[in-house]
Amino acid sequence: MKLKYLNFIRGVSINRIGKTGMALTTSSFLTFVLLELLRIMGVFTNAYIGLITYLLLPTLFIIGLALIPFAWMIYKKDAGKTTRELLERQFDRNDLAESKLGASLLRTVMIFTIINILFLLVASMRTLSFMDEPEFCGTACHSVMNPEWTTYQASPHSRVACVECHVGEGTGALISSKLNGAWQMVSATFNLYERPIPTPVRQLRPARETCEKCHWPDKFYGSLLKSIAHYEMDEKSTPKYTTLVLKIDTGEEVGRAGIHWHIGKGNDVRYTSVDDKREEIIWVESKQRDGSFKRFTNKKLEGINYSTDSVRDMDCVDCHNRATHIYEEPRNAIDIRMRKGLIDKSLPYIKRESLGAITASFTENDKAAEIIKNRITSFYRRNYPDLLASKGKAIDKSIETLQEIYKRNIHVGMNIDWNAYPNHLGHSREGGCFRCHNESMIDDKGNSIRYDCTLCHSILAYDSEEPFKYLKPFGSADKDSAMHVYLKDEFLKSFN
Ligand code: HEC
Ligand code: HEC
Ligand code: HEC
Ligand code: HEC
Ligand code: HEC
Repeated sequence: MKLKYLNFIRGVSINRIGKTGMALTTSSFLTFVLLELLRIMGVFTNAYIGLITYLLLPTLFIIGLALIPFAWMIYKKDAGKTTRELLERQFDRNDLAESKLGASLLRTVMIFTIINILFLLVASMRTLSFMDEPEFCGTACHSVMNPEWTTYQASPHSRVACVECHVGEGTGALISSKLNGAWQMVSATFNLYERPIPTPVRQLRPARETCEKCHWPDKFYGSLLKSIAHYEMDEKSTPKYTTLVLKIDTGEEVGRAGIHWHIGKGNDVRYTSVDDKREEIIWVESKQRDGSFKRFTNKKLEGINYSTDSVRDMDCVDCHNRATHIYEEPRNAIDIRMRKGLIDKSLPYIKRESLGAITASFTENDKAAEIIKNRITSFYRRNYPDLLASKGKAIDKSIETLQEIYKRNIHVGMNIDWNAYPNHLGHSREGGCFRCHNESMIDDKGNSIRYDCTLCHSILAYDSEEPFKYLKPFGSADKDSAMHVYLKDEFLKSFN
């Protein structure tokens, strides 16, 4: 006669510990199945429920399973009986009778074991893939990752999973990332992490394996026409337009020149810096045709000791370090939104007041939102009371936009104020391209690396009153902060 499953469950739960184990295992199993179903149906997407489903429940399941044999061991020791005697006590004689120790009992144990193994396999696969989802990486340790999550969602890579850039290929990388992740959980729980999280990221997957998978390194980008607007602090917030042609890669195939020359086929640039921040460069070398390297040394740092193992091969992230977690400068953040019409340009002194409002405080979001609102409304109430009524909607929308800028860029809990993370793509202050391209970086003949204003871009217009008139053919000149127009040579020649 077959052993009934319920009898089996009752029989196995030998004492209170065994019953607890059985209850834990069964309930976590059923809850897992239920939550998984609800998730598939789209009821939950929340990372906390994911944490429970994929980390807590399988753990409880395993603990429960382990308790059952443990309970038997204890019971056996206390009662001083043999296994056979215990089995006979716990199970129906009929169940055991078929063979000496009960073939049907054995079979039932096997069936349950197979179910358990299958369950654990499925659960661990789901756990691993859940941990790879951006929602998990970005929201499970909410306060820690919130800045990266916020900036990521607003970036061109909001559809690219965190792991695509942060976790290498192969099992080695997988294991090390999970260990690293486990450490991150511990440090998040006990508040051991640094605020803000230090950058650059050492374990970042090499750009060869990430960026270059989607951005074909041999893709020809040509020149990029970029129109930038800045607004003055006067009553009219007078616009000033700058138009650049960025020489991203000029020249075809072999011997490609321009900004992407650094990563061109056969080219190799390497450098060493004072510390991990990669901001103060000690020397930089570029590979020559004959395979030798030509070195430029920073004469401002002569005599500094460095270890050669900190030599770094330049890749995409040395310039595009903010490809995804893009923090804005307050001035540019406002200018871009004014140009898009999110902040009303016609409001008097709006640029000046906006800048004052978003840089006035460094405090929690809700408080800052209140401060921004009060500051803008009280300015107009005091100086332009009529506008509050006639342009109330425009003022409200501008306030909302300023609050959004603040929320995206400032994260008090993580000590992220304006400019916590420098962007290397341009040349604000001494940084970015000017880390290497400056007069102090000289070769053995005393010639400096090039840094003339036309090396990287032509400046078609600088701080002019009107948008560059040749932009018209590409669309409305005053809508976008950046026009991504790849130019044909003939077009460029018509200016030079
Ligand atoms: C397109 C590639 C890419 C994606 C996708 C991406 N990151 Fe990053 N991440 C980077 C780069 C590049 C850096 C800067 C590394 C450097 O300067 O060396 C970085 C830095 C970080 C840092 C360090 C702090 C900082 O801002 O420099 C954290 C934390 C981080 N990323 C978390 C995440 C999380 C969480 C996600 C998913 C929600 C994610 N990243 C998605 C490329 C990416
Ligand atoms: C999984 C694919 C993928 C990976 C990996 C990836 N990107 Fe992208 N990248 C994209 C997509 C998709 C876009 C958006 C293109 C668009 O909007 O036209 C984009 C856009 C960009 C842009 C243009 C941004 C803009 O302002 O329009 C840059 C620059 C860029 N990526 C650099 C990088 C760098 C650097 C890395 C490595 C750290 C990287 N990408 C990794 C897919 C990827
Ligand atoms: C020497 C610095 C530097 C390096 C190294 C570099 N880039 Fe760029 N890249 C730039 C600059 C500057 C631009 C123009 C960006 C702009 O103003 O929009 C650019 C533009 C781009 C664009 C076009 C973005 C757009 O706005 O349409 C993509 C895509 C891109 N880079 C990807 C890469 C990838 C992938 C790598 C590594 C294989 C790389 N870059 C290495 C400096 C660099
Ligand atoms: C780590 C140092 C370093 C950084 C940072 C750097 N460069 Fe360079 N760049 C070099 C070196 C080295 C050369 C080659 C100089 C030589 O051999 O004369 C070079 C050459 C160039 C050239 C000339 C390429 C040609 O056609 O021969 C351009 C254009 C250029 N860089 C643009 C940029 C831009 C734009 C940035 C910032 C987004 C930048 N570089 C950041 C080191 C750097
Ligand atoms: C090594 C390359 C390089 C050199 C040399 C260089 N620039 Fe630039 N410049 C850039 C890059 C890259 C940007 C960023 C464009 C963007 O916004 O994406 C930029 C941006 C600018 C901007 C627009 C900034 C803004 O936001 O309004 C101006 C103006 C400018 N450069 C002027 C100059 C002048 C003047 C010189 C000569 C002293 C110079 N540049 C030399 C690479 C260079």
